[in-house]
Amino acid sequence: MKTEIFKVDEGSLEILSRAAELIKNGELVAIPTETVYGLGANALDKDACLSIFSAKGRPSDNPLIVHVAKPEDAEKISFTCPLYYKLAEKFMPGPLTIILPKREIVPKEATGGLDTVAIRCPSHLVARRLIELSGLPIAAPSANSSGKPSPTTAKHVLDDMDGKIPMILDGGECEVGVESTVISITDNSITLLRPGKVTIEELKNVCENTQIAGAVKEELKEGETPLSPGMKYKHYAPRAELYLIDDKYIDFVAFTKQKQKTEKCAVMCYDEEISQLENKNLLPVGKKEDIKMQTHNLFILLRKADDLGVDTVYAHLPADEGESLAIYNRMIRACAHRVLGGRNGKG
Ligand code: TXA
Ligand code: MG
Repeated sequence: MKTEIFKVDEGSLEILSRAAELIKNGELVAIPTETVYGLGANALDKDACLSIFSAKGRPSDNPLIVHVAKPEDAEKISFTCPLYYKLAEKFMPGPLTIILPKREIVPKEATGGLDTVAIRCPSHLVARRLIELSGLPIAAPSANSSGKPSPTTAKHVLDDMDGKIPMILDGGECEVGVESTVISITDNSITLLRPGKVTIEELKNVCENTQIAGAVKEELKEGETPLSPGMKYKHYAPRAELYLIDDKYIDFVAFTKQKQKTEKCAVMCYDEEISQLENKNLLPVGKKEDIKMQTHNLFILLRKADDLGVDTVYAHLPADEGESLAIYNRMIRACAHRVLGGRNGKG
């Protein structure tokens, strides 16, 4: 199959209409969102959902996120509750995904066999326009091959999906850079399943009774069933071995400078550290205090690390709170919990 790629904005009606026709015909289209690129298909068409799994090489029990144009559109596919609308008012459209009991109309193929469905209302104007034009809820996981970092540019999508899907909509670099915050809710409680731009602190302002699921910060225990199937898969792993350095206990610059002499390694350093390191395979993440930029750059840099063909990658252990918790969660899994130094230290 030939994969066509088009630069678009929300005004590109001709291309977006063609994309909407493909979705209505059960085909796959890669879509820009404010978080990462999604691999979209008609969420109500079980065969279309199955083709998402085969294009990604994704385990069939890992459910998809269903994207709607407006928060109220969740009514057609799920059973909402007052807390859903309280959260929607504050965070939708935007990078928050809410798990709700599903209606019959949603095929089990979309939800990995679960009785719940993940609802997300993206703020990206291209994604919203496409959902409106298709008149359908669009199931879209991140548009990477399973196990690779999520794509934040159309080029990343092409690298993984060339020849497997008919169309990629190129809306430029995704603003946020990591996937949406995923939560499950009951009438009066929230459980955070995957951290993202919407933070635990912001959720607590809407509902005091908010917890973090254990697997967000730690490894699943032997035999433990995760609250979200995605938690059990190794994710975002670069080909090189990634090590996180707890810089409270190890001098990051001194340590990595030494490694640069003896190993074929890449270093994900802060901008402030560039001048102190050897100018070889440096992957600057942004300024030390600029968590937004570090989030935006995260998957771009993990993919670059692969392209460099290095054996090892060294990075700072991110803080596990606030907006940095999203980076922590991705990095700790990308490194298979290889942390050097005190906190969580294994090395
Ligand atoms: O930002 C995002 O959320 C992106 C863009 C494209 O919207 N999508 C995305 O989808 O990251 P995906 O499939 O890569 O991640 C979905 C996560 C998985 O960890 C999955 O296990 C979880 O959400 N999930 C989906 N439906 C669920 C459900 N019914 N119950 C529990 N977890 C669910
Ligand atoms: Mg994904």
